[in-house]
Amino acid sequence: MKILVIGGSGLIGSRLVTLLGKAGHEALAASPRTGVNAVTGEGLRNALVGADVVVDVTNAPSWEPQAVLDFFRTSARNLGKEEVAAGVRHHVALSIVGCERMPENTYFVAKVAQEAAIEAAGVPYTIVRATQFMEFIGGIADSSTVGGTVRLGDGLFQPIAADDVAVILAQTALAAPLNGTVDISGPDRALFAEIVTRYLRSVGDARPVVTDQDARYFGGRVEEHSLVPLGDARIGRISLVQWLAQAQNG
Ligand SMILES: NC(=O)c1ccc[n+]([C@@H]2O[C@H](COP(=O)([O-])OP(=O)(O)OC[C@H]3O[C@@H](n4cnc5c(N)ncnc54)[C@H](OP(=O)(O)O)[C@@H]3O)[C@@H](O)[C@H]2O)c1
Repeated sequence: MKILVIGGSGLIGSRLVTLLGKAGHEALAASPRTGVNAVTGEGLRNALVGADVVVDVTNAPSWEPQAVLDFFRTSARNLGKEEVAAGVRHHVALSIVGCERMPENTYFVAKVAQEAAIEAAGVPYTIVRATQFMEFIGGIADSSTVGGTVRLGDGLFQPIAADDVAVILAQTALAAPLNGTVDISGPDRALFAEIVTRYLRSVGDARPVVTDQDARYFGGRVEEHSLVPLGDARIGRISLVQWLAQAQNG
């Protein structure tokens, strides 16, 4: 099967291309560095020739509110138009658990717009909504640090390892389209501050971490269940303890 991975050079995309290739598929990484730009449309038509499945794991270079909205909306529309013309049978995209629940988070708003454009495009699709990647916990801590203290909202957190995200996306790409959404998360659920503290201590970072009801997650208020799956979810295999051990060893 020919599977085009848009964003195939990224954290998730590079893992996905490797997994699909090992499973015997023609998995091709497409992104600006290979001459394929989902926002301008450059290189898209040629890259899509003969593609059975497209997986979109792009990320926006700028998270400024208008820029990130334009990125996800325009790229999803362009991909949809070109995939209809190319006869693509399944479009898979990676979104975020609860993105519709945090309207002050402008990145999440852009992901909701991406999902709406996918649903409107007319290509059979599956949207995989993941919780935050374990690889992103350090970035969350940094962006939540005020005056040397990490301030996090009073909610639950259930991060997933990038390797698990890639495995589930590969399985999704090879399965029939759901024309719907599936939530995925890691196995460990705990308070946001507790998981971030465990991560920071494991990398030798002594920054204090506090729960603060007024703290925002990229602009959004965090309530108890804002960032975790509310119903059924596929659960990754890699625990936080295993991931922290791997991260320390390598
Ligand atoms: N971080 C989290 O916790 C989290 C949680 C749930 C879902 N997600 C979603 O996961 C997705 C993938 O994230 P990631 O961390 O793997 O991303 P990443 O490592 O930042 O990689 C981004 C990819 O997008 C490509 N790209 C950028 N501009 C492009 C364009 N105009 N056209 C085509 N490709 C373009 C990049 O290509 P070049 O290398 O050529 O620039 C790169 O391959 C994102 O959509 C994000 O919303 C993230």
